[in-house]
Amino acid sequence: MLCVTNLKKSFNSLVVFDGFSLTVPRGSFTALVGPSGCGKSTFFDVLTGIVPKDGGDITWRGDAVPHLRGKAAYMQQKDLLLPWLSLIENALLPAIIAGMTPYAQAKARALFTRLGLSGFEEYIPGRVSGGMRQRCALVRTLMFEHELVLLDEPLSALDAITRRSLQSLLLLLQIEFGKTIVMITHDVEEALLLADEVLVLSRFPMSVRERYVPGTPKPRRGDDPELLKTKEQLFYGMEQEVVREAI
Ligand SMILES: Nc1ncnc2c1ncn2[C@@H]1O[C@H](COP(=O)(O)OP(=O)(O)O)[C@@H](O)[C@H]1O
Ligand SMILES: [Mg+2]
Repeated sequence: MLCVTNLKKSFNSLVVFDGFSLTVPRGSFTALVGPSGCGKSTFFDVLTGIVPKDGGDITWRGDAVPHLRGKAAYMQQKDLLLPWLSLIENALLPAIIAGMTPYAQAKARALFTRLGLSGFEEYIPGRVSGGMRQRCALVRTLMFEHELVLLDEPLSALDAITRRSLQSLLLLLQIEFGKTIVMITHDVEEALLLADEVLVLSRFPMSVRERYVPGTPKPRRGDDPELLKTKEQLFYGMEQEVVREAI
């Protein structure tokens, strides 16, 4: 569905990536895990055309494209909610711009209920917790009907129980609704629970340090022996990397 080849991006003398490549099959769930500052958010920004690339090719459904603007739903790391609009107005913003429909309203209400936000529709972002703002931003992202969904640390501000419930929602989106998901996370366990392919990234420049395909079918349990073992391995690898950088 999506093929990225040899992507390059620098900010002045900082080379964020210099030849980064990634293939995303249709209907798959890919997790990108990497240390803070390695370039994950920049990768999504370049992919969606928010930040211009310095080089490289993006192929979308077989066609070369400059970026994925208009082709993917993108939830940025910052929630970017408008402070003067209510949560439901923020979530409905894409629909308001595109022309509001009864379907969009019903969909937003249903997602509010599913994500535990019902009763808070009329609150402004400043009056609710970070986790609620994050869920509102997720609703807004899911209001787009695109098949490809790019999520930048979508569940990072949530408590453990809400997080579990939304992890199930993400799986449902992939398996029942046929979405193709690429998710950035710093949570190795979350990546191993949800993804068909886990890419562990290293920095300066960003590259794939390890590629892991979990063997256990989904839904997976956190106490799955393979998951626990792999989690330790991937953590160990990342720790080594951080230690090497520090020395
Ligand atoms: N607009 C920008 N101008 C200059 N440097 C930037 C800009 N955006 C990001 N960076 C730098 O690029 C690197 C990667 O940032 P980012 O993609 O946000 O990392 P991550 O999402 O993996 O934590 C960081 O060192 C960051 O400071
Ligand atoms: Mg980031």
